[in-house]
Amino acid sequence: MVSKWIAVGRASALGRRPLPVTLDGLPMVLFRTPAGVRALTDRCPHRSAPLSGGRVVDGDIECPYHGWRFDGNGRCRAMPGLIGELPRAFVPSHQVLERDGLLFVTTAKDPGTPYVGALSGPGTAALRLENRVTSTLAEVAENILDATHTHFTHKGVLRGLSPRRHTVEVSVTGGDGWVEARYVGEPRQEGLVSRLLEGERADSIGRFIAPGIVELEFRGPRGPHLVTTFHLRQAEPDTVRGVAVLSGPSRLGLGYLKAALFFPLFRLAVDQDQRILSAAHRRRQQFADIRQMSGPLDIMRPHIDAILAGRRPSVADTPARHLISL
Ligand code: FES
Repeated sequence: MVSKWIAVGRASALGRRPLPVTLDGLPMVLFRTPAGVRALTDRCPHRSAPLSGGRVVDGDIECPYHGWRFDGNGRCRAMPGLIGELPRAFVPSHQVLERDGLLFVTTAKDPGTPYVGALSGPGTAALRLENRVTSTLAEVAENILDATHTHFTHKGVLRGLSPRRHTVEVSVTGGDGWVEARYVGEPRQEGLVSRLLEGERADSIGRFIAPGIVELEFRGPRGPHLVTTFHLRQAEPDTVRGVAVLSGPSRLGLGYLKAALFFPLFRLAVDQDQRILSAAHRRRQQFADIRQMSGPLDIMRPHIDAILAGRRPSVADTPARHLISL
């Protein structure tokens, strides 16, 4: 289940121009060659100019400073103005994959298979968007999986306007590198998003999979009818970047009409989270010596923290059950 491939963007965002991405502080440049997408460290070995500021010429990337060219393996192929033999020069290269409309990179030796989501492939319709938020990966992952904030942050969008709540049973299980909460007893939410996209709801699942997959799966009696998969990464110490993929069975008509209606709402919900997460991050920095308090309803955070620290979540060995009012 756990993969070391990280989705860093939408495949459609990479055209003829090089695409800069950052992974754990490492700048990379992605570009297209006749043999497929390639990824290099975004630093020219000559005078350190970012290669992403250059252009792609005949499948090689050309540095914007003095025009050295590097192929998809990072080997220097040209030094304009040089008469004579080309000296050896290299830029580190990285593994990169294009899969299901996303670009995945990894620096791991044995990265496994990219995780593309609980709902993907033929018969699935998908929408993708990219976002960034000033925060940490643990905070953003918790935010997406936390059902209790939706009554406040997303009133009217993900939740209805009424204060009515329902008693919901939550079962939390996990394993090495993942944790999952299953919500049973919650009717379809009354916000605009659910009214637009969901049918009858049987249950819903929220899961975190290392190193940065956060997924919400809304299931009807015949299986998932709406899945949102967030591929998150800590791009910089204060910046989390993510690609969100919204997918549904194409038989349920996640078509252009629904997409046109849904997308602004989904974007609105993402922006609402982005605002509160960024504001909270600033306060955390101002009060850096005061620990945050967790409450009994913060059921996923201890497991997310454990997984990010490389530990096995406790629910992997002792599954937990909670009753909460949602
Ligand atoms: Fe890249 Fe000189 S800095 S060619």
